Amino acid sequence: MNVLLAGGAGYIGSHTCVELIEAGHTVVIADNFANSCPEAVRRVEEITGASIPLYEADVCDRAATEKIFSENQIDAVIHFAGLKAVGESVEKPLLYYRNNIDSTLTLLETMEKFGVNNFIFSSSATVYGTPEEVPLVETMPTGSPTNPYGWTKLMMEQILTDTAHARPDMSIVILRYFNPIGAHESGRIGEDPNGIPNNLMPYITQVAAGRLPQLGVFGDDYPTHDGTGVRDYIHVVDLAKGHVKALDYAGDHKGVEIVNLGTGTGYSVLDIVKAFERVNHIEIPYVIKPRRAGDIAECYADASKAARVLGWKAEKNLDDMCYDSWNWQSKNVNGYK
Ligand code: NAD
Ligand code: UD1
Repeated sequence: MNVLLAGGAGYIGSHTCVELIEAGHTVVIADNFANSCPEAVRRVEEITGASIPLYEADVCDRAATEKIFSENQIDAVIHFAGLKAVGESVEKPLLYYRNNIDSTLTLLETMEKFGVNNFIFSSSATVYGTPEEVPLVETMPTGSPTNPYGWTKLMMEQILTDTAHARPDMSIVILRYFNPIGAHESGRIGEDPNGIPNNLMPYITQVAAGRLPQLGVFGDDYPTHDGTGVRDYIHVVDLAKGHVKALDYAGDHKGVEIVNLGTGTGYSVLDIVKAFERVNHIEIPYVIKPRRAGDIAECYADASKAARVLGWKAEKNLDDMCYDSWNWQSKNVNGYK
């Protein structure tokens, strides 16, 4: 298939681009570089040997989006183009609602106009809110997100579900990602957050690189095996391969499917710190800090639907994730800059 990757220059998009090309698909990327840079796409070309049409475009911009569809025969769209900083979404809710929802509406309307029926969406485990039990199963009720970012994901899941019901010719796969970390094994592409990272693994790698003095561990009094928060960390290359499977599925089915992409295993903050230290032989100094507002104790997936419906399961382990995260950061101390 020829696949439009909206937000394809970003962390998950760039890794998905590699896996799609290696699976025999062709891609077109649209990105406004709000949180990425063209260098990431150049490196995907270097890894794959493919030439990738790249549009610097805001997919909220209807004319710019229609131009892409009129210049390319698009068979499917994967929509990564969202703003994702939780704290910033609390400060600037309108920016988040406008960008994340408008991009989805514009892409769906343009797809309808051009007769494109396959859509894959980047959702998040954040839509489960504060879970009453784990592992999280897709049939469990969604919760109340604690921030506008999470609300945009929940609202977009509703928009997509309603669209699929109204348009029986469409195939929509909503992927609920758990916690992607790691990087491509080449060390050429990886996560490159702006400013001080909010997420755990990029914070750890920047401490390891000497860019930050120590890690703050947000709370050690949660009801978990060591008191620190537990999450389902998934290697970004496994996650990327999940999109290839979702695309295959979308090509053969109609309607809407919601699928968790996680490993099914939870690790605590200190499990991650210890694994990173052991695998990479680098000490990560840390200090226990108060809990971070909005954090939950435990979040991990029941990953069985992805295996059953998509024929996908994560293959890489925590050591791979720690090794590849550091391989990327150590070779690119300042990211793509
Ligand atoms: P990212 O910021 O690296 O990638 C998003 C890309 O979209 C960036 O390249 C950005 O420049 C682009 N973009 C944003 N708005 C755009 C617009 N209006 N038009 C064109 N391009 C636009 O983030 P990521 O980690 O790769 O995440 C991809 C998607 O997955 C996002 O929707 C995110 O909310 C979702 N997600 C990410 C995580 C995570 O932990 N990384 C977890 C759950 C869900
Ligand atoms: C966070 C977001 C979530 C978003 C996801 C992906 C919050 C409350 N949640 O999830 O909405 O979908 O990122 O972008 O921001 N931790 C530390 N020290 C740090 C950083 C993190 O101890 O410096 C801990 C956290 O308390 C948590 C774990 O590490 O227990 C993972 O944190 P993080 O990587 O930010 O992911 P989530 O909180 O799961």
